[in-house]
Amino acid sequence: MSESHPRRHVAILGSTGSIGTQALDVIAQHPDLFEVELLTANNNADLLIEQALRFQPNQVVICNPDLYDRVAEALQPRMIKVFAGIESVCDLVGSPDIDIVLTAMVGFSGLRPTIAALEAGKAIALANKETLVAAGSLVMPLARRHQAPVIPVDSEHSAIFQCLQGERVKPSKLILTGSGGPFRTMPAAEMADITREAALNHPRWKMGAKVTIDSATLMNKGLEFIEARWLFDMAPEEIEVVIHPQSIIHSMVRFSDGCVMAQLSNPDMRLPIQYALSYPYRLPLAMEPLDLIRTGCLSFEEPDLERFPCLAIAQSALKRGGMAPCTMNAANEEAVAAFLEGRIRFTEIPEIIQKTLDKAGFEEKPDLETIYSTNFESRRIAAELIAR
Ligand SMILES: NC(=O)c1ccc[n+]([C@@H]2O[C@H](COP(=O)([O-])OP(=O)(O)OC[C@H]3O[C@@H](n4cnc5c(N)ncnc54)[C@H](OP(=O)(O)O)[C@@H]3O)[C@@H](O)[C@H]2O)c1
Repeated sequence: MSESHPRRHVAILGSTGSIGTQALDVIAQHPDLFEVELLTANNNADLLIEQALRFQPNQVVICNPDLYDRVAEALQPRMIKVFAGIESVCDLVGSPDIDIVLTAMVGFSGLRPTIAALEAGKAIALANKETLVAAGSLVMPLARRHQAPVIPVDSEHSAIFQCLQGERVKPSKLILTGSGGPFRTMPAAEMADITREAALNHPRWKMGAKVTIDSATLMNKGLEFIEARWLFDMAPEEIEVVIHPQSIIHSMVRFSDGCVMAQLSNPDMRLPIQYALSYPYRLPLAMEPLDLIRTGCLSFEEPDLERFPCLAIAQSALKRGGMAPCTMNAANEEAVAAFLEGRIRFTEIPEIIQKTLDKAGFEEKPDLETIYSTNFESRRIAAELIAR
């Protein structure tokens, strides 16, 4: 199969992050199949320079303009073009040399470049779930209009995507699994004292700080619930969340005949990243194979929406629709940043999000400009609530 895999030219937006570095690890395993065209980072100039020297992209963008001189000095003598600012990312993702764009930036910052890439008809390997949470009702029709495939990178959505290969009918249910995070069994009374360090210590996955906190509050599962709604065009009632502490089954689909299909592997993000970059081909990957005997028991539980209200907030924001998920996402980003800076408690994260949703305006059918202004205004409301 691998002989027929075409050589692909890849842009990695957010190459210095957890997903970005793992994507480069995948690419390093297949130097004959992938070529890096564009790398982007926000602040981590040193790692961006190191990556560029190793993978020799045609161009790099450092989003923080203050770091431009440092990156340019290191890379321009090597004939690598250097740009600064998020606008440059949007301008460059449409380059004819790029076949596929991996969106591995964190948060709402991923929306603008993803839209630019879709408008240029590029295939998207989508890690940046916040793009679909904030603007799924606009982004997916845009992708269809430009015939730009959106291939999931999130392990749950990749699992569903893999289970659906070769099927001709829509499933009747998507079953999203989640590990339950580090506080799955913690009594409610102890949750207000959760520290930043404890919340950053995820039992199964090594990820960036924001998504790790989202996993601890179960907001990550809420964001994924909304992401699944848009990626697979399923109604909220057709999506179910199941806690599966071993993180071996990455998600499942049920069909109308009762058949349930699941995708299993050891938890390693390089598998869904590689599948998104190589789709529809499967390539070898150096990772520990799944040993079912050693794994032993696979267990499942219902999520506890009282101890983890973020998941319920996300589900109800999706049902409300319009700009509610965008408001929720913006408030979550502010609240998570405030928790990481020690300005609020863990249990205040859902409170800030809910209060922001209660205070923010609502529109049933927001356009893109309204999404941008909603993000801005919701952050302002959340920041005000945090400051109190
Ligand atoms: N990590 C995982 O295992 C995982 C799994 C599933 C889905 N995801 C999703 O993938 C996305 C990335 O997650 P991650 O864990 O890789 O995040 P991360 O480790 O925090 O990396 C984020 C990347 O985005 C860049 N970035 C941050 N803010 C930016 C801004 N305002 N403008 C431009 N670039 C910016 C960072 O640059 P600097 O390093 O220079 O600051 C870094 O390259 C998120 O949407 C997350 O939910 C992650």
